[in-house]
Amino acid sequence: MNDPIVTRPVKLSCRQVWKVYGPRPGYYFDTRGYQIEPETLARRLVAEGHIPAVVNANFDIHAGEIFVIMGLSGSGKSTLVRCLSRLVEPSHGQVVLDGADLLAASPAELIEIRRHKMGMVFQGFGLLPHLNVLDNIAFPLKIQGRPAEARESRAREVIRLVGLEGREAAFPHELSGGQQQRVGIARSLAVEPGIWFLDEPFSALDPLIRRQMQDEFLRLQDQLQKTIVFITHDIMEACRIADRIALMCDGRIIQIGTPAEILLAPADAYVADFTEDVAMGRVIRAGDLVGDPAGARPEALPADAPEVAADALLDGLIPAVAAGQRRFRVRGSDRRPGGVLSADRILDVLRHGQQ
Ligand SMILES: Nc1ncnc2c1ncn2[C@@H]1O[C@H](COP(=O)(O)OP(=O)(O)O)[C@@H](O)[C@H]1O
Ligand SMILES: [Mg+2]
Repeated sequence: MNDPIVTRPVKLSCRQVWKVYGPRPGYYFDTRGYQIEPETLARRLVAEGHIPAVVNANFDIHAGEIFVIMGLSGSGKSTLVRCLSRLVEPSHGQVVLDGADLLAASPAELIEIRRHKMGMVFQGFGLLPHLNVLDNIAFPLKIQGRPAEARESRAREVIRLVGLEGREAAFPHELSGGQQQRVGIARSLAVEPGIWFLDEPFSALDPLIRRQMQDEFLRLQDQLQKTIVFITHDIMEACRIADRIALMCDGRIIQIGTPAEILLAPADAYVADFTEDVAMGRVIRAGDLVGDPAGARPEALPADAPEVAADALLDGLIPAVAAGQRRFRVRGSDRRPGGVLSADRILDVLRHGQQ
């Protein structure tokens, strides 16, 4: 499928990354065991009492992309994202950020990189209970050694960004879960990170608040255009916000693709099961399905053929299809291609889902 996102420059590369817990986690890698086929090595490690939490992860994340890592609890998501920021030391592999090998950075360099280039948000919010909202958000700037006035003005800027004006003096325990996570988000953005890691940031919130936070997150990303690694165990959340999803199971990444690719062409039965309950019409967009099976080209469409945006959800096209429209002219976006979309294709996808 066409995927404009992957034509953007690479921001972060993860190459053959492993994280193994257990009695002798480094042994096989020290003895060039990684030259063994990965599945064979993973099985051998398990047989010897290890937990391979991340098995041979390979992917590139592109500038401005929202890359979602999804999987059930225990599948290795947190371990993988911590390897990417080197909060966890990988057992093997390479993590390349902005062209530099993160695993080769000295401890001092690593502290600098984390302070200036990375933003992190966690499920438990991680706020400092004895600091008010303003001071919590300004805290990473204090660590950076910025003067008080600059800290406060930057903190007020991000407070506006996340809609917390008026709550500057409140303490964490005086805030709702959603507000606390807004503080967490604002704090992580205060340093203007080049890459933003969010590990299940909305999982502790009620479903309605979670949806609202997802919307706010997308609105924020529209303005900020950050490169984002977002972790979730919720397939619907993944489909709503991802440019691409990496699906993990038992430490392995079993498929990487756009939400449409994962839904329409699941790599195996496990992925298919995972995505079974997702409503296609709320995830798949016009541009995901362009390419008329009969080969009709946009120029060949009648002049009055309706035009739709490539990012329009299929659900929004149902009334026009029901009214008898056979073909749509799809206007490309920076995320999805344009072309011709047929009503038959829409109905096929809505009817059968996976094909
Ligand atoms: N410090 C650790 N020591 C031993 N095993 C660990 C450690 N951290 C994580 N694990 C194991 O690694 C696997 C992946 O865990 P984790 O990355 O937290 O998964 P997820 O975030 O997807 O829930 C689990 O089996 C977990 O028990
Ligand atoms: Mg986790």
